[in-house]
Amino acid sequence: QIIHLEDYRPTDFVLERVDLTFELDPRETKVEARLILHRREGVDPSAPLVLDGDELTMTGLLLDQEEIPATLYDALDDTLTIRGLPETAPFEITVTTLLSPETNTKLMGLYRTNDVYCTQCEAEGFRRITYFPDRPDVLAVYTVNIIADKATAPLLLSNGNYLGGAGMGDGRHFAAWFDPHPKPSYLFALVAGDLGVVEDTFTTVSGREVALKIYVEHGKEPRAVYAMDALKRSMKWDEEVFGREYDLDIFMIVAVSDFNMGAMENKGLNVFNDKYVLADPETATDTDYANIEAIIAHEYFHNWTGNRITCRDWFQLCLKEGLTVYRDHEFSADMRSRAVKRIAEVRHLKSEQFPEDAGPLAHPVRPTKYREINNFYTTTVYEKGSEVTRMIATILGRDLFKKGMDLYFDRHDGQAVTIEDFVACFEDASGRDLKQFSLWYHQAGTPLITASGSYDAAKATYTLSLEQTVPATPGQSAKKPMHIPLRVGLLLGDGSEATPTAVSGADVTADVVHLTERKQTVVFAGIPSRPVPSFNRGFSAPIKLHIEQSADDRALIARHEVDLFARWQALNAIALENLAEAAAQTRRSQPITCDDALIGGLLAAAGDERLEPAFRAQVLSLPSEADIAREIGRDNDPDAIQSGRQAILSGIAASGKEIFARLLGEMTLSGPFRPDAASAGRRALRNAALSYLVYGDDQPDKAASAFRSANNMTDLSQALTLLAHRFPEAQETIDALATFKQRFADNALVIDKWFAIQATIPGASTLDRVKALMSDPHFNPSNPNRVRSLVGTFAFANPTGFNRADGEGYRFLARQILDIDPRNPQLAARILTSMRSWRSLEQVRANHAQEALKEIAAASNLSADVSDIVDRMLSDG
Ligand code: ARG
Ligand code: ZN
Repeated sequence: QIIHLEDYRPTDFVLERVDLTFELDPRETKVEARLILHRREGVDPSAPLVLDGDELTMTGLLLDQEEIPATLYDALDDTLTIRGLPETAPFEITVTTLLSPETNTKLMGLYRTNDVYCTQCEAEGFRRITYFPDRPDVLAVYTVNIIADKATAPLLLSNGNYLGGAGMGDGRHFAAWFDPHPKPSYLFALVAGDLGVVEDTFTTVSGREVALKIYVEHGKEPRAVYAMDALKRSMKWDEEVFGREYDLDIFMIVAVSDFNMGAMENKGLNVFNDKYVLADPETATDTDYANIEAIIAHEYFHNWTGNRITCRDWFQLCLKEGLTVYRDHEFSADMRSRAVKRIAEVRHLKSEQFPEDAGPLAHPVRPTKYREINNFYTTTVYEKGSEVTRMIATILGRDLFKKGMDLYFDRHDGQAVTIEDFVACFEDASGRDLKQFSLWYHQAGTPLITASGSYDAAKATYTLSLEQTVPATPGQSAKKPMHIPLRVGLLLGDGSEATPTAVSGADVTADVVHLTERKQTVVFAGIPSRPVPSFNRGFSAPIKLHIEQSADDRALIARHEVDLFARWQALNAIALENLAEAAAQTRRSQPITCDDALIGGLLAAAGDERLEPAFRAQVLSLPSEADIAREIGRDNDPDAIQSGRQAILSGIAASGKEIFARLLGEMTLSGPFRPDAASAGRRALRNAALSYLVYGDDQPDKAASAFRSANNMTDLSQALTLLAHRFPEAQETIDALATFKQRFADNALVIDKWFAIQATIPGASTLDRVKALMSDPHFNPSNPNRVRSLVGTFAFANPTGFNRADGEGYRFLARQILDIDPRNPQLAARILTSMRSWRSLEQVRANHAQEALKEIAAASNLSADVSDIVDRMLSDG
């Protein structure tokens, strides 16, 4: 069943209030939901009330406290239809349902994780709790009463402010919560159990004192301290930068170890995958710390962009997600190094979103149809959605963007709105027409800009010829030209930047060239000598760029650009060209060549003390095998890509021996561990240098000694990765893996790393290793983090292991998907998307991949989640 955007219409009935009472029990939780409703004006007086449901057992149904006769309602699998309701007067419907949280393995609705009751309602989980108008445009005020056994569930939490509670004399107790802010059902949350807490307070700019609580398993409190710090910084930042203040007396975060996604922004009661809360130096890497900071901020920022202003329907998901990702990106940029943050974002966008946009799962940022909404929590909606917001800020400039945001908050507070409403705020605030720009929301596919330049010395003009094409994507064969804000710099031979006296052929503000036509010729006047164009500074637009540019010209950019992102981009482009060529040379059995400009550029940047270490580490980290596959685009052979890359890496390692050895010493930190960006940058650069030293050597000693001397998880896991990936069979590696496992046996998040490191060992034999690891006592097929760390990591991040030429990797994945699906469809569908680029493989592998997909498609009782993904993956567009 396909849902279409154009079919949207408001509900027939208006929900005014919701009172929920939960009597919690692992196998038989009783939920009584009282809904106060009235018929919307103008609606047919005989129209029935239709509520959503999913796997519910209903034991009672009342209208104004009177039982509804069986003739007046139909309770089906997914709907409850009630007829004969009052024409205009408000009425009360009371639905009683019985749930079994303990056996809810889908982790949607009310479930149990480590003896804690917890809920996940976005997108359509509330209907697994009670029959309800479970859609985001139904906003109501909720009162929640929770009754539970006091000994096992001393803590009873829900949204809003705490009203009160008491013992009940029978070993049970109750608590009542009231959330004054009207909200859709997907933001409902309930948590009950026995947890430890870290507490703090935050005083908002207008003087409201907010109690802050982070709940974690007993004993893990010290590991929540960093998350609390990140939360306070997020609250302050949102006041200062977006003028957004918190609006309840309490803000709570609960960390749970079984969770399908990263985290959830339930009003006043965020629920987190504990991976994004818990950190200490011994067990968390710098990346973990950065993720925690970003995700704590993300969920907190949703309080305004998502909760106070929510989505009219799920097609508008990017309204809250794209915008909130943009906000968390800006937050991290302010907390850390803006340039390095931008490089990391773009790497992530290109490695995750670009392949999605180029394959069978491509869809617009604002889709117009879906079968299963859970499959649209995608990197296109989130990350490309964020880039689209960023482009609005680029086009309008900082002040007008701010004015547009203020108008949005003002105009739509308390409403469920659309992307059109959002864009209209920026048009109204700026007077600028964003109609063509809005195509970014509607046209899928990554635009390609082909550029060429010519210099006329006599006229002192530089002419850029630019052509944009947007590739065909499923359901969209013909595309219109887009409004692309492309930031361009013109560098002169001495590295200085040319300032044109005039520009014609496009609207240009500062260094932003506004491309709006399929083909455009832009002439820059007053250019004293042949310039080197530096395109897409700061990655101002999420596009692919094709330009013939010599390695020397790129090296000039890498040395002199004022925009640090563009410097990295230039070196990355040289690297990609060389790595793609090395793969081709491997396939032709030719010797592998490498531009001097690449090695020279990388080593110059690596040793340049004027540059921050984190930036230098980014430069040294070569494009991944998946990046290279994307650069090549079609007929990919992962083995050739891997050996070509290995050869280039060895070349760099050999040339840079001295520099790397020096960096290893220079970047060593003394004193206690600190997770700040500067320290993390030094660790990153040191580990990058170590990695080249290890790859430049045929003995495991350096990695083994790094493993022994590491005193934090960043260094330890990096050393273990080097050992395992470079010397998988060495005794040192076997010992290190055993030591690591034993030392962290009781820390699930670290054991996840142990699985992931082994799942990414390159080469065909890793499949057997992965299979063996599935029988390890630590492997737990019902814990999503664990399944992702082994099966997910293998499929997503081990190109040579997963894409074995004999197709065994795909067959393995197919069996895993069919095994996971009945328990947890969301998890199965997500892991299956690892095959989204199968059509760009060489023929033999592509055939095997297709067979495996067909095997999944042919299975009976597939979930809607998996069947949606597999069908799209197999269709021809
Ligand atoms: N809104 C959450 C976030 O981005 C994601 C929740 C998605 N959950 C799901 N079951 N699809 O912060
Ligand atoms: Zn979000």
